[in-house]
Amino acid sequence: MKEIKAIIQEFMLPKVVEALREHVEIPGLTVSRITGFGRSERAAGLSETAPMVKLEIVVPSALVNSVVEIIRSHAHTGRPGDGKIFISTVDEVVRIRTGERDQNAL
Ligand SMILES: Nc1ncnc2c1ncn2[C@@H]1O[C@H](COP(=O)(O)OP(=O)(O)OP(=O)(O)O)[C@@H](O)[C@H]1O
Ligand SMILES: [Mg+2]
Repeated sequence: MKEIKAIIQEFMLPKVVEALREHVEIPGLTVSRITGFGRSERAAGLSETAPMVKLEIVVPSALVNSVVEIIRSHAHTGRPGDGKIFISTVDEVVRIRTGERDQNAL
C-alpha cells in the first residue's frame, strides 16, 4: 500500500477530485487546507504560498501510477506554484469499525 500526498493549488481541487472520481477507484481521500513554501517561493523571499490543499490518498500499490498521473495532469498549469506529489509506503491500516486490516481496511 502507498500513500500519495499531493499539494496542489486550492482552485484546482474540484477539477482534480472530479478526475479522480471519474478515472480510478480510490477508496478514500483526505483534504486539508494548508500553506507553505517551495523552492521558488524561498528564492523569491516569500514565507508562504497562496492557499494550497493537501490531498492524502492511501491506495493498493497497483493504483499508484494512475492516481499520480491523474493528479499531475489535472493540477498542472506549467507556472511556479503548481505543487508537488510525495509517495511513500504504508505499512499497516486498521479500519476502526470492523477491525479489518491492511488492504481489506482501505
Ligand atoms: N520539499 C518540500 N517538502 C515539503 N513540502 C513542500 C516541499 N516543496 C514544496 N512543498 C509544499 O508544496 C507547496 C507548493 O510548492 P511549489 O509547487 O511552489 O514547489 P516549488 O519547489 O517552489 O516548485 P515550483 O518552482 O514549481 O513553484 C509549498 O507551499 C509547500 O507546502
Ligand atoms: Mg514554488
